[in-house]
Amino acid sequence: MGLQLQHVPLVGVDDGGFPPLQEPGGPEAVVGVDMAVYQVFGLVPVDEVQQAGKPPVGVVLPVAVVLGGGMGQDDVHPSRPAELESPAAGPAEIPLEILGELDGDTLEALVEEPKYVALTFDDGPRASTTSRLLDGLLERGAAATFFVIGQQIPGNEALLRRMAAEGHQIGNHTYSHVRLAGADKDAVVEEIHKTEVLLQSVVGAGSFWLRPPYGAIDTQRAALVKTPMIYWSVDPQDWKLLDAAKVADAVTGCVRPGDIILLHDFYPTSVDAALEIVDRLQARGFAFVTVEELFRIQGVEPQAGSLYACPNRTRCLE
Ligand code: NI
Repeated sequence: MGLQLQHVPLVGVDDGGFPPLQEPGGPEAVVGVDMAVYQVFGLVPVDEVQQAGKPPVGVVLPVAVVLGGGMGQDDVHPSRPAELESPAAGPAEIPLEILGELDGDTLEALVEEPKYVALTFDDGPRASTTSRLLDGLLERGAAATFFVIGQQIPGNEALLRRMAAEGHQIGNHTYSHVRLAGADKDAVVEEIHKTEVLLQSVVGAGSFWLRPPYGAIDTQRAALVKTPMIYWSVDPQDWKLLDAAKVADAVTGCVRPGDIILLHDFYPTSVDAALEIVDRLQARGFAFVTVEELFRIQGVEPQAGSLYACPNRTRCLE
């Protein structure tokens, strides 16, 4: 996913006067514009600008729309810069003076490579909340990673199979959510192993990466872990806030490409927050991948027994 400039030829950008298609075509000139085009650029159609009475920051229209409906180019926007006249194939050249007119988010979406982040969910699965989350992620084409608690697997097998079938990654969050740092070593191995066996019986063989409860594990216990361990780099404290808008603001206000975001699919407010986060960040050109995919994309081979805040940053053990 992400923006591919060659599919978005740019033709007319108004510099603060009224939108180009007002004359002489009138608002009907934009009939048929795919709204998604506007959403991608964070812009609004001409008629909405007019209704809201606000000055347009810049109006970008696809060539096919501007040239469609039997209108000649010259009829559409006589003051269009000469270098934008030709709807030639190939990547669009965006003159710097035009980029200067666009807001930060739009600019970010236009000029950068796709940005990848990983949403992670702990402490599930939980029938009501996790299934709603899966519905929302599927609708949005977003992948996520679920660190599940072993004792919550019985009764929720269908949810786990659905996660696997829909491209999500499943990880191990121990059997009974114990603090592993300083715990009896046999208990540590058993907590991890029991969950692994359950997961294998439901979704088949695989490597179920560990997220230690509370992110807490020490060097000696980490040496017993046969998979990579995943911490996080963004923690909005959803379990404490229990407020979808605040959680979404906390994440979208600081997230950077390559981040691993911690949420809990146990809370309805966190499910709402997660879907809001996906909507907002997809509009900014972010794509949601599993933790495993994030490592692969960044070319990092994760090591068993290491605790990663994100692919390029390990965390000190307790
Ligand atoms: Ni937890």
